[in-house]
Amino acid sequence: MHRSRSLGALWPPLLLLLLLLVAATGAAGALTEDEKRAMVELHNLYRAQVSPAASNMLRMRWDPELAAFAEAYAQKCVWGHNKERGRRGENLFAITDEGMDVPLAMEEWHQEREYYNLSAAACDPGQMCGHYTQVVWGKTERIGCGSHFCETLQGVEETNIQLLVCNYEPPGNVRGQRPYQEGPPCSRCPPGYRCEDSLCEPTTGLGEAQDFPLRVTEVPPTTATSKTSAEAPDKPGWKTQQSSGHAWSPFPGLWLLLPPLLLAGFF
Ligand SMILES: *[C@@H]1O[C@H](CO)[C@@H](O)[C@H](O)[C@H]1NC(C)=O
Repeated sequence: MHRSRSLGALWPPLLLLLLLLVAATGAAGALTEDEKRAMVELHNLYRAQVSPAASNMLRMRWDPELAAFAEAYAQKCVWGHNKERGRRGENLFAITDEGMDVPLAMEEWHQEREYYNLSAAACDPGQMCGHYTQVVWGKTERIGCGSHFCETLQGVEETNIQLLVCNYEPPGNVRGQRPYQEGPPCSRCPPGYRCEDSLCEPTTGLGEAQDFPLRVTEVPPTTATSKTSAEAPDKPGWKTQQSSGHAWSPFPGLWLLLPPLLLAGFF
């Protein structure tokens, strides 16, 4: 503390502010290592907890190349799906002012489970389920996300928005497929995979542990209290086409969080 005084009267507060900013959002709003870790762990937490249980849910791991791809797109500050994402799944989230909030983004995406009926493989009319189904897409094994602070975000009137882009491989939301196969956890893991905490993970080769050691980050409390049931709501309306990995829909569901209201963006 005394050392910083020698830097001059202005320095300590400036330095502190800078440190806080960097700690909160990373440079230019990039995700911190902790945030990346939390992103992977929250995905795997939600994946391990699906109800009904999944027989073939793979463990997701961080993919630096996907992350670089997502980051590059986030830096373009466009509110809409990346048309050049190829065979990659994609979830977007935007929040104003407070900076990126990974657990909140995950919660928003995950809460769509209330509208999704696995046995019917259908989303309730007028609702979005595509974020949820990507999060719990059993065959999706790699995730990479990028975040960027956008003073202006194309397609949105609000300014100073923190944009989050997550890309997934293999992509979820493939038409005609369910996110996962129901059954006892891990009862249908692919060959070469073993069961760990209700998720299938490779016995050899690349494991998530190489990128992010497990249990380094505590799971934020907000996620521990996820609702347990998947009730079927009764909202009337038209049936939403869900966004998909390569055969993507004309209505990619996007979330934009504007305090204090949560707005669903239909594009
Ligand atoms: C889900 O869909 C199936 C098949 O259409 C239906 O029988 C079931 O009642 C639905 N579940 C809920 C919770 O609505």
